[in-house]
Amino acid sequence: MEETSQQNKKVVYSAVQPSGNLTIGNYVGSIRNWIDMQDDYTCYFAIANMHAITVRQDPALLRRHTLELAALYIACGLDPEKCALYVQSMVPQHAELCWTLNTVTYVGEMQRMTQFKDKSAKHADNINMGLMDYPVLMAADILLYLADYVPVGADQTQHVEIARDIAIRFNNRFGETFRVPEALIVKQGAKIMSLQEPTKKMSKSDENINASVYLSDDKDTVIRKFKRAVTDSDNRIVASEEKPGVSNLLAIYCAFRGCTLEAAEKEFEGRGYGDFKLAVGETVADAIAPVQAEQKRLLVDKTYLNGVLKEGAERAFKTARRTLNKVYRKVGFYQGE
Ligand code: TRP
Repeated sequence: MEETSQQNKKVVYSAVQPSGNLTIGNYVGSIRNWIDMQDDYTCYFAIANMHAITVRQDPALLRRHTLELAALYIACGLDPEKCALYVQSMVPQHAELCWTLNTVTYVGEMQRMTQFKDKSAKHADNINMGLMDYPVLMAADILLYLADYVPVGADQTQHVEIARDIAIRFNNRFGETFRVPEALIVKQGAKIMSLQEPTKKMSKSDENINASVYLSDDKDTVIRKFKRAVTDSDNRIVASEEKPGVSNLLAIYCAFRGCTLEAAEKEFEGRGYGDFKLAVGETVADAIAPVQAEQKRLLVDKTYLNGVLKEGAERAFKTARRTLNKVYRKVGFYQGE
């Protein structure tokens, strides 16, 4: 019975890189949206440490951030009984499938990817092969589990598109093998902008410390950052294209309150920016405080976390091995008798 219902469920796959310092944008744009999917889908949520090393990482910190992200997943409400929570490098089929998919992917199309161009500009001294291959590894992640849906932030749409192209191309060449995945882009809060330059996306690695609010920030820090957020001089709390700062703050408020834009505008009608910024800051700080507390509690229990990640990897491995065997058969790899 269990097995049958499992098999009929659609499959969801997503991942986050353990690069430390997740912002509130990562939270509302990705992890938070996964919580409701656990009951309706077969879910795989990975910690993409193999993607993370495409830019330089400190090894000890990378290991630390991996555990922190695992604890955060659980603190946000992902249930290791319901979904496979695992570390990408613990399931060898990701790298193996990536190699095969590399042979149906063209250098030109990888060079044209927006993120590759951005990251190449940013890390001009380290334009490594992995950076260019990033989308193929991501395609391997998704296709290994025959995912139907990939919930991601808006900046990852192009990567899911490429995964679809690769799946279709492989299927055309070798016969039906992969399911063609679909991106699920969250609407509310899909794009949270920098508090300092509200026309730019809020980023984990912004040099201006007041630009991004981190999930690890304490209440005072959160409130201080919102107080310093760039707005404008007309003192009206409405969303519009000419008011990117105020629009962003309203979007953040709505994402954390779960209210509509109209309701938020109404709530703040006639009030000043000072009041408004404080309200947004408090809302965010109060929303992330319980998550932080739970993450901290979990991080103390290494045995538990290790157990969750081991079991998650075992579950992922079973599916991944089945898909990879099929792929190897299709491409004509000798697999013994
Ligand atoms: N590239 C994604 C990001 O930075 C993380 C990621 C890796 C991912 N593999 C994935 C997301 C597979 C969805 C599916 O956000």
